[in-house]
Parts: sequence; C-alpha cells; structure tokens
Amino acid sequence: MSDQKVAIVTGSARGIGRGIALKLAQDGFDVAVADLPAQREDAQTTLDEIAKLGRRAFFRPTDVSDRDAVFGLVDDTVAELGTLDVMVNNAGICQIVPITDVTEEQLETIYRINLFSVVWGIQAAAAKFGELGKEKGKIISASSIAGFEGFPILPAYSSTKFAVRGLTQAAAKELAARNITVNAYAPGIVDTPMWTYIDEEMSKLNGKPIGQNFKDMVDTIALGRCEYPSDVAGIVSFLASDNADYVTGQTIIVDGGMQYS
Ligand SMILES: NC(=O)c1ccc[n+]([C@@H]2O[C@H](COP(=O)([O-])OP(=O)(O)OC[C@H]3O[C@@H](n4cnc5c(N)ncnc54)[C@H](O)[C@@H]3O)[C@@H](O)[C@H]2O)c1
Repeated sequence: MSDQKVAIVTGSARGIGRGIALKLAQDGFDVAVADLPAQREDAQTTLDEIAKLGRRAFFRPTDVSDRDAVFGLVDDTVAELGTLDVMVNNAGICQIVPITDVTEEQLETIYRINLFSVVWGIQAAAAKFGELGKEKGKIISASSIAGFEGFPILPAYSSTKFAVRGLTQAAAKELAARNITVNAYAPGIVDTPMWTYIDEEMSKLNGKPIGQNFKDMVDTIALGRCEYPSDVAGIVSFLASDNADYVTGQTIIVDGGMQYS
C-alpha cells in the first residue's frame, strides 16, 4: 500500500494557511495550495518553500465561497497529487464593523467566505474520501477565540467562528460512522496580514497609533508573546496525524493563554 499522504490547505498563499501548508509538508504531506487567483505570487512563495522540503505541491486558484470551485479543487487535487487524506478549511476574512452598522452585503460576504466555504469543504472532502474508498479521513477548519467569546466590533466575524464550531460538532457526529474526523482550531492573536488589517481598522475607530491595538491585545496573553502561524500549525499537524485518530468534534484553542474553557 502507498504511504503517500495528500492535504489541501485553503488560504495558504500567506499567513496561517502558509504555516499549516509548510508544517504538513514537513510531516510528509504533498499539498494543494488553494487561494484566490490574485494571490498567485504569494502562493508561489509557499510552493517554493514546500519544494525545499522535498514535497510536491501545486497552486489551485479557488474562491472558497463558491461551492463548485471547492468541489473542483478537491477533484483537481486528486488528479494532480494522486489522493486526498486531509482537508484544511483555513481561508477566511475579518470585518471590523460595529453591530449597529453591519450591512446585509457585509453579512453575506463574510458568511459565504467564513462559513459556507466550510460546508463546501466538508461536503467535497467527505464525498472524495468515499469515492477513493479511504479507511479514514480528516477535516480541519479555522475557528477562533472569537468563536468562543463575542468580540466587540467583530460581531459578524465572531458569529461565523461560533458557527464553525457548531458545524464541526454536527459534521463529526454525522461522519463518524465513516471514520472521518472533523475538528477545528481556534487561534488567538496571530501575526499575519489579517491582524495588520484589524489593527489599522481599530486605529481608525479608537485613534490609537498603528500597531498599538495589536500590542495591547498581545499584552493580555499569558505566555507573553504574540502567536505565529507555526504555533497554529503545530495543532493542525496533530489533528492531521494518526495521533488524533480518536479526536473528533473538537475545536482546540491555541492562543498562548487568553481564553480557558
Ligand atoms: N490572524 C489571527 O489572529 C487569526 C485568529 C483566529 C483565527 N484566524 C483565522 O485563521 C484563518 C487564516 O487567517 P490569517 O490570519 O492567516 O489571514 P490572512 O488574511 O493573513 O490570510 C488569509 C488567506 O485566505 C485567503 N482568502 C480570503 N478569502 C478567500 C476566498 N474567498 N477564497 C480563497 N482564499 C481566500 C486570502 O487570500 C489569504 O491568503 C482565517 O480563517 C482566520 O479567520 C486568524
């Protein structure tokens, strides 16, 4: 039997997704790097780093809010890399908008990208695991500490991340009979372009200098430093591994000590 392992990581042109893609490559996975078409240049950096680790990878332009695109991503991954073992639904966006101002269009956008995408990823991966006759499969999605506690000025974002936990539990129960595990990770304050955006938007609202809002949040972390994509990748590596075969329906907080559940 082949010992080849293949993972898809959405939103892996940069940030946490890139960190996860590199860690899984270190773990011996070949990786489909999925991101928006405009992210091709950043995606190439992810591909180059995976190549240095001696694993195969390819860039599949994908808008994860589009169901057909996600199913196409899964099909193309198997065509290109030979199989599928792990699906990481990582891509997401943040919006800094108070609850009093949130528009219908903003809600639709963030729900399609942060939540619908997770449904499509679960559906497409579960269907493919069945088609391939896999004995097991792993699906791992991005929640957040904002999925455990609502954050002011992030109401829509927080609600999508709460919803990811609900989907994760329900899908885990449904798919357990097929030995497909469904889990999620909940990072804290991670140093990525998303937090650059959050910091800038918060500065516009509260007048603090650029960088100050990020620093203020980091100052509340028990371990005394901000989080890096590699910190998140360590948890995803575990959830993707045989060591996590008996873990399902869980959303694991990885935040350096901010929230305790
Ligand atoms: N940065 C943090 O502090 C933090 C904390 C908790 C959870 N998260 C979650 O982790 C995930 C990754 O966050 P990040 O900080 O790396 O963000 P990021 O903005 O740095 O990177 C996100 C990536 O997703 C891609 N993406 C966005 N919309 C997409 C779409 N429709 N289709 C395909 N790709 C798309 C972007 O192009 C980008 O490459 C997100 O789901 C985010 O909500 C981040």
